[in-house]
Amino acid sequence: MEVIDSNYECKIPTLEQINKRWDYEISIHNDNDQSNWIIWKEKLIQDVLSNRSITYYGFLNNEIIVEATASISPESYFVKNSKDLIDEKTAYLSAFRTNKEYRNQGFFSKLFNFMIDDLIKRGYTQFTLGVEKDDYLNKSIYLKFGFTKYIKTQIMEYPNGEKIEVEYYMKQITEWSLVIYGGIKRSTKWKKN
Ligand SMILES: CC(C)(COP(=O)(O)OP(=O)(O)OC[C@H]1O[C@@H](n2cnc3c(N)ncnc32)[C@H](O)[C@@H]1OP(=O)(O)O)[C@@H](O)C(=O)NCCC(=O)NCCS
Repeated sequence: MEVIDSNYECKIPTLEQINKRWDYEISIHNDNDQSNWIIWKEKLIQDVLSNRSITYYGFLNNEIIVEATASISPESYFVKNSKDLIDEKTAYLSAFRTNKEYRNQGFFSKLFNFMIDDLIKRGYTQFTLGVEKDDYLNKSIYLKFGFTKYIKTQIMEYPNGEKIEVEYYMKQITEWSLVIYGGIKRSTKWKKN
């Protein structure tokens, strides 16, 4: 899918932009699970301030329309069931969201590539995520993005106590792809003597 619009830009947001985005999320989730969103906002801001998570936004004409988060510390609030999901070369990805009216137009794909490029530069070569067991649409989307290695299935609990069964998958960047990415963080076996 082609992107799209020269007015679309992917960035790591400022704290002010993060606040604005979360206030928007809380305002549109004005139903039973709004309490979850209020807690997630607080936890995400704490995570970002203590370098446990990095959040990425896509801006269309300066409006935030897409987001994704990478957690890079097992201490992150967002990495539940952390065994086998996060380590010094593995980042845990979550909160993939495109505003409804902009979905299926390639905006998330562009943000996803921006995030993966940035994480590779930081030394990460494996990426994990969780998806609800019965969420076949998102599973098929993640498969397209290369999350092909099944890790495990575990129960996860939302802040409001709701429990869901989550399948975890991994995307691995091969050594060959890293050459294409410009040799960032090459494995030692390529080093010339
Ligand atoms: C998942 C989500 C973030 C994708 O964002 P998006 O901006 O619509 O994604 P893109 O347009 O970049 O499409 C990405 C790929 O997924 C596919 N896709 C997107 N929506 C799809 C749909 N409804 N059905 C089938 N495939 C779909 C696209 O075809 C594309 O693949 P392609 O490049 O091979 O064509 C978005 O649908 C969303 O916000 N969903 C609700 C929140 C959610 O469930 N998030 C995931 C859990 S955290």
